[in-house]
Amino acid sequence: MAFSSFWLCAIFISLVFGHGAQASHHVYRNLQSVSSASSYQPYRTAYHFQPPRHWINGPMYYKGFYHLFYQYNPKGAVWGNIVWAHSVSKDLVNWTPLDPAIYPSQPSDFYGCWSGSATILPGDKPAILYTGIIDTKKSQVQNSAMPKNLSDPYLREWVKTPKNPLMAPNRANNINASSFRDPTTAWLGKDGWWRVLVGSKRNSRGMAILFKSKNFVKWIEAKQPLYSAEGTGMWECPDFFPVLSKSLSGVDTSVNGPDVKHVLKVSLDDKKHDYYLIGTYNAAKDNFIPDIGFESYVLRYDYGKYYASKTFFDYGKNRRILLGWINESSSQADDIKKGWSGIHAIPRKIWLHKSGKQLVQWPVTEIEKLRTNPVNWPKKVLKGGELLQVTGVAAAQADVEISFQVNGLKKAERLDYWLDPQDLCSRKGAAVRGGLGPFGLLVFASKGLQEYTAVFFRILRYQNKHLVLLCSDQSRSSLNKDNDLTSYGAFVNVDPLGEKLSLRTLIDHSVIESFGGEGNAVITSRVYPTLAINDKAQLYAFNNGTADVKIKRFSAWSMKKAKIN
Ligand SMILES: *[C@@H]1O[C@H](CO)[C@@H](O)[C@H](O)[C@H]1NC(C)=O
Ligand SMILES: *[C@@H]1O[C@H](CO)[C@@H](O)[C@H](O)[C@H]1NC(C)=O
Ligand SMILES: *[C@@H]1O[C@H](CO)[C@@H](O)[C@H](O)[C@H]1NC(C)=O
Ligand SMILES: *[C@@H]1O[C@H](CO)[C@@H](O)[C@H](O)[C@H]1NC(C)=O
Repeated sequence: MAFSSFWLCAIFISLVFGHGAQASHHVYRNLQSVSSASSYQPYRTAYHFQPPRHWINGPMYYKGFYHLFYQYNPKGAVWGNIVWAHSVSKDLVNWTPLDPAIYPSQPSDFYGCWSGSATILPGDKPAILYTGIIDTKKSQVQNSAMPKNLSDPYLREWVKTPKNPLMAPNRANNINASSFRDPTTAWLGKDGWWRVLVGSKRNSRGMAILFKSKNFVKWIEAKQPLYSAEGTGMWECPDFFPVLSKSLSGVDTSVNGPDVKHVLKVSLDDKKHDYYLIGTYNAAKDNFIPDIGFESYVLRYDYGKYYASKTFFDYGKNRRILLGWINESSSQADDIKKGWSGIHAIPRKIWLHKSGKQLVQWPVTEIEKLRTNPVNWPKKVLKGGELLQVTGVAAAQADVEISFQVNGLKKAERLDYWLDPQDLCSRKGAAVRGGLGPFGLLVFASKGLQEYTAVFFRILRYQNKHLVLLCSDQSRSSLNKDNDLTSYGAFVNVDPLGEKLSLRTLIDHSVIESFGGEGNAVITSRVYPTLAINDKAQLYAFNNGTADVKIKRFSAWSMKKAKIN
């Protein structure tokens, strides 16, 4: 009997289960942990977060420590054991596991403790809001828990509020109890009321239901959702936070004012991508007015594999940090062989682009501590058709920064009709020669180039505009065709003749995170080469356009292994 799905937002990592290894939703009673993973682990990442098994959620910074909570079944197969496991870190790079923080123990969560968020209340008191499952039909309510001992720097023990559940679905509004989950971090209005969003839908209208409270215990549903959109389906893991118009710094979730814009992000269950809107939050009316709505589905944190993300405000460093989950792209049979599935993306600092029209992301600077053995190239020309091997770095575990310069735009290919960037990248992969591009990197390349993942730019002319396309072409990433080999693409909002024709790529055994145009567009790929593994992997800069391009800057580093659980 299918008993429930352990839905957990934000960053969660799924382990392989015997039956239906969908990363999130469908977990069955015969869920099977693979206890002894094979010792052959070419795809196991070295510096991306992974719990020993299962999923994770709910990040927080508190008094010098970053906390991650993740869903974990310490005994493997039995539902009743699902707990919120807990890891802490001082630097977002190295993680120490602690004992579980929350586990099913009361009627309001007896069938599962699903995802939630942390909020820091006045007096420096953290609180967790999480979704509890109350029956076999996956009916959902919201609960809270507080640390038992605030003097414990690790916040090891958490106590549930006796008043749980604090929020229940409003059936009079036709809210299905199985679509009512993933409370956000709460924010405090100037009127003294806390507010929190819960992801939901009514028929196909996705929505962020708003609840208000004076004391964080008694919550009242607002008359209207903060925002909703027809046709978008279930909104999972909503996230709602302020960004500053004129600064890269982050601010606390309760901040609002003249130089503040608000971001509403939702993980669309139907599309399996994280989309966001930028707009204005009217605190008096408690509504959100996006500058551009969901009609166009344009803005995504990541145009590759990335879901169920969540941000938090790091008040230690005045920045907002984004954490997201990266699903596998391998077959279930291969996941079972590996014995694990799903990883965390490298935490990213996130801020508003100066245009106000999109967000910008960049890996947290702490990750640079893992850099070793730098390789720097002098400026050089990369001729049309040329391939240059990067020697001296561990190509399966590296951080690479490359920036390009093109001589004029005359050779840009013409795009006669509009195509979605992902379509463009699958039609025009690295093997399709162009004018200005493709140029970029060949990652996880085998010696004879039977395998490689090409991350590259292509400059196109559409009507009177030039477009910079970034592709992560996985079509040749593996000789094992059971993997999902979808190529991903995004337009990068930069001047093709300007300074920002740059690419930063984090490479870690089976993951490639690429930041184009200094973080204007990000694409994450999961790839599983069969030949280009470990020290057999090679790295190249390549140009398959007809025009020469200049490499203005090139630096690469091998990455040390992080301490992860
Ligand atoms: C609270 O934590 C502090 C620091 O770890 C410890 O010294 C103290 O004994 C704890 N108090 C209780 C009641 O457990
Ligand atoms: C609620 O949603 C579940 C799952 O989508 C569905 O099976 C059920 O019929 C729905 N119930 C109502 C009352 O709409
Ligand atoms: C996980 O990856 C599989 C295979 O690529 C894909 O079909 C599925 O939609 C992904 N799930 C999520 C939540 O991203
Ligand atoms: C460059 O283009 C040629 C011709 O289409 C193709 O054979 C070759 O594989 C391409 N190189 C790469 C790295 O894709």
